[in-house]
Amino acid sequence: MVAGKKRGFSSKLPSYGDAEFSKYLRTVFLKSMGYSDDSLNRPIVGIANTYSAYNSCHATVPTLIEAIKRGVMLAGGLPFEFPVISLHESFCAPTSMYLRNLMSMDTEEMIRAQPMDAVVLVGGCDKTVPALLMGAASAGAPAILEVTGPMLTGSYRGQRVGACTDCRSFWGRYRAGEITQEQLPEITDQLGPTPGTCMVMGTASTMALLSEALGVMLPGGATIPAVQSQRLRHAEQTGAQAVTLAKSGLTLDKIMSRQAVENAIRVLLAIGGSTNALIHLTAMAGRLGIGVSLDRVDELARETPVIVDLKPTGEHYMQELHEAGGFATILRILAPLLDLEQKTVTGKSLSEILKAVPEWPQNIVRPLDNPICAEGGLAILRGNLAPGGAVIKQSAASAELRNHTGRAIVFESVEDLARRIDDPDLDVTQDDILVMRNAGPVGAPGMPEAGYLPIPKKLAQAGVTDMVRISDARMSGTAYGSIVLHVTPEAAIGGPLSLIETGDRITLDIPNRRLEVDLSDRTISARTAANLKKPARQAPERGYARLFDQSILQADKGCDFDFLTGK
Ligand code: FES
Repeated sequence: MVAGKKRGFSSKLPSYGDAEFSKYLRTVFLKSMGYSDDSLNRPIVGIANTYSAYNSCHATVPTLIEAIKRGVMLAGGLPFEFPVISLHESFCAPTSMYLRNLMSMDTEEMIRAQPMDAVVLVGGCDKTVPALLMGAASAGAPAILEVTGPMLTGSYRGQRVGACTDCRSFWGRYRAGEITQEQLPEITDQLGPTPGTCMVMGTASTMALLSEALGVMLPGGATIPAVQSQRLRHAEQTGAQAVTLAKSGLTLDKIMSRQAVENAIRVLLAIGGSTNALIHLTAMAGRLGIGVSLDRVDELARETPVIVDLKPTGEHYMQELHEAGGFATILRILAPLLDLEQKTVTGKSLSEILKAVPEWPQNIVRPLDNPICAEGGLAILRGNLAPGGAVIKQSAASAELRNHTGRAIVFESVEDLARRIDDPDLDVTQDDILVMRNAGPVGAPGMPEAGYLPIPKKLAQAGVTDMVRISDARMSGTAYGSIVLHVTPEAAIGGPLSLIETGDRITLDIPNRRLEVDLSDRTISARTAANLKKPARQAPERGYARLFDQSILQADKGCDFDFLTGK
């Protein structure tokens, strides 16, 4: 037990100017719910409940929470669940990213305000895991994560399918006229056949694996399918471990160290993880005052191969990764590149955890000398178009477009793109580079996953499947293609992307990490001056939109609010 610290229901009393009265009054209300004096003296474990009817990825949360509560009580603690905001990718307009920081603030403040000696964070869908961990890290609470787990796959006319890399490929085929509208209901029946998170290496799977790498989740938790009984046993153990944390007072800052964050970056690169995870990891680390340098990420990318054969980079789904040993198998193969002495919520180091895990033959995680890609999944680009950096998921890009120069076709915004991309009169060829701006953190706002610009319909119907696409937006981790994202600084705050005109020549050079537009300094100065004369952007006047607009940081800083980062 942490010496001298108020714990259980004696902590965080409302202020009436008489602490004993506050405690007495709290006891009255606890007893009104039927709690006995004995139960009130146990270590209290809060459980952040992210169930929502608007979050299909969290449909199993009520059952998970029952298992977590059972674990807490078996270990002698008292569980207290409480609601926090829940975010699903398909049910939040304009984008769930717009609300991630709000969810992190909700989590932080409810942990701060309510009596609990440790907290179990129940997340899963993309933004929920970073938001919960950001909040708990800022609150300084002993915390442990349980994720909902991935969906199982479905089958469409004999083809194994799942969310949501296959969602995108089917949609691409529909746009190309290869699939009819009548087929879509049968396809959508199969793409998400069970509750759980997307079962490819999208953002949810990436964040779950990074959480194991960071040591904030019990071993094995990242890959257990949402609907398997093993998930419930894992949740029960998580509840029990939370009681140990409540007694030891081990907080996230002792676990998410600078070295643990570097381990997580290595894992992100080796699994061909989502570009979004880079933003989230930066924000999570930032809450503890740990900076993530894009240059360091790129250094690590050059020496970290992609070894996990999962869609969209490879062929398989999370279920196979789980059957191949899950995170432990990745850890074992990546061990020479990691610091395995980092401590986890178990109280043990990664190397101690690894020693306890059996090994068996598998073909989902490749050895370091036979990788899927020789370099890490992500590459950081710089140049006069992205002085603050840009990101490309090089493992999901076309080999023939790794070094490409083309004519820019510029779209002013997500709306402009939607209006014109399929216009039969759009002057575009497959060698052109599609550019979209004003879709960054400030511009959209919230940096939507609109960076996966569709191939213009007339080109898709002619068989074109990939083009270089550039924007200040993000992209779903389940998406693929030669797509440059997170161009920083974004266009809405005057970044160079705001100066590009249709017809400019742009070069993408992944091997040399360059993103350049062929414009003279004089032209850039003239266009900058012209831009300054345009009417200023209308900033929101009230509410969360105003807070967001005034405080949001750029992608290279994790898109956190400037007043939430740690020292
Ligand atoms: Fe929730 Fe994909 S939409 S994980």
